Amino acid sequence: QELQMNLEQIEKGGFDHFMLKEIFEQPNVIKDTYRGRLHADKGIIQMSGVEDHLEKFLNADRIIIVACGTSWHAGLVAEYIIEEFARVSVEVEYASEFRYRNPIIKSTDVVIAISQSGETADTMAAIKLAKEQGAFVFGVCNVVGSSISRESHAGAYTHAGPEIGVASTKAFTTQITVLTMLALRLAKAKGTLSHSDFHRYLLELELIPEKVKEALGTIDRAKEIAAAFKDAPNCLYLGRGYNFPVALEGALKLKEISYIHAEGYPAAEMKHGPIALIDEQMPVVVIAPKQGHYDKIVSNIQEIKSRSGKIIAVVTKGDTQVRELADYVIEIPETSDALSPLITTIPLQLLSYYIAVYRDCNVDQPRNLAKSVTVE
Ligand code: G6P
Repeated sequence: QELQMNLEQIEKGGFDHFMLKEIFEQPNVIKDTYRGRLHADKGIIQMSGVEDHLEKFLNADRIIIVACGTSWHAGLVAEYIIEEFARVSVEVEYASEFRYRNPIIKSTDVVIAISQSGETADTMAAIKLAKEQGAFVFGVCNVVGSSISRESHAGAYTHAGPEIGVASTKAFTTQITVLTMLALRLAKAKGTLSHSDFHRYLLELELIPEKVKEALGTIDRAKEIAAAFKDAPNCLYLGRGYNFPVALEGALKLKEISYIHAEGYPAAEMKHGPIALIDEQMPVVVIAPKQGHYDKIVSNIQEIKSRSGKIIAVVTKGDTQVRELADYVIEIPETSDALSPLITTIPLQLLSYYIAVYRDCNVDQPRNLAKSVTVE
C-alpha cells in the first residue's frame, strides 16, 4: 500500500495531481510535438503523414473534422486556423452526431479524426463510415498504436506523452500545435499565405513553448481568483474568433473537475440569451487578448459590467483598457491572433484546477467521467 502510494507520488513528479503536472508539461510537450517537423530557420514544415498524401489534401474541396469532448474543441480551433491559412472549407462535427445522421461524404473529402486516446467509440465509428464512403482519413492521436491511429490512412501523433488526468490539458494544446502545422504546410503548398506571413508564423510557433511557460506564471493569480469564486454556482466563458473555442474548453474544464455549471459562448451571442443570467453573482471569464476583435470584446465587457457581472479577463500583458473594467485580470504574453489559443488556454486550465482543489474535488478522476470512452 505504502509502496503504491510512493510510486504514485513519483509518477506525479512532485505535483499534487497528474492534471497539474500535465499542465506544467505543456512547454516541453509542445516542443516535442513540433520537434523534427518545424524548421523555422529553413522555413520548412514537414510531417511525413502529410507529405506522403499531400495531393489528397490539395485536391480536397473540404475537410471534415470529427471528434468528441476536448478534442472537438481543438477541431474548432483548427477550423478557424485551416480556413484562414489554407483557404479550404472545414466542417467540425461531433463524431456521435456525424455517424448517425447519414452525412454527405465524398471521395474527395479529407476527414480528420482527433482523439487523445485513439479509442473513442464514436470517433472510431465516424472514421469507419468515412472510409466506407471513400474519404481519406487522417488521424491526430496521442496514444501510439491506438485503434483510431491504426484505422486511419495516415496521421500525425501529438507526442504529448501519457495523459493521466481525466480532464484533457496537454493533449489539447498539442492537438492544436499539430493542426496549426498542418494548416501552415497546406498554406505553403497552396500559396495561400504570403512568404513573409508563413515565415512569421513558423518563428512564432517556435516561441510558443517559452510563452506557455510565461503563462504558467499566472498560477498565483489563478489561485487568488479561484479562492474568490470557488463557491459560485455558475460561470460564463466568453471569447471571439480563435478564442471562442477556448471559451468552450474553459467552461468544459470547470464543469468536468469542479462540478460548477459553466457555459462557453461566442461573446457576441451573449445578447441572445446568456445576458439574461448576468447579475452580481455571475462570474464571467472573458478572453480578451489585444489581437483580434479587441474593441468588440471591450464593449461586451462593458455590457457585463453595466449588469454588475463579475469580470475575470484574460488580457495581453500591458493592457490598460480592460483592466479598468474588469474585477480581475490575468496577463498573458502577446502572440498572433491565430496562435493565441495555445496561450489563452493556460490560465483557464489553472483556474479550473484550483477551483476544483479548493472545492475538495477529485481532480484527476472526476465523478462519472472516464478518460477514454470506448462504449457508446
Ligand atoms: C472523454 C474524456 C475527455 C476527452 C473525450 C474525447 O470524455 O474525458 O477528456 O476529451 O473523451 O476523448 P479522445 O480520447 O477521443 O480525445
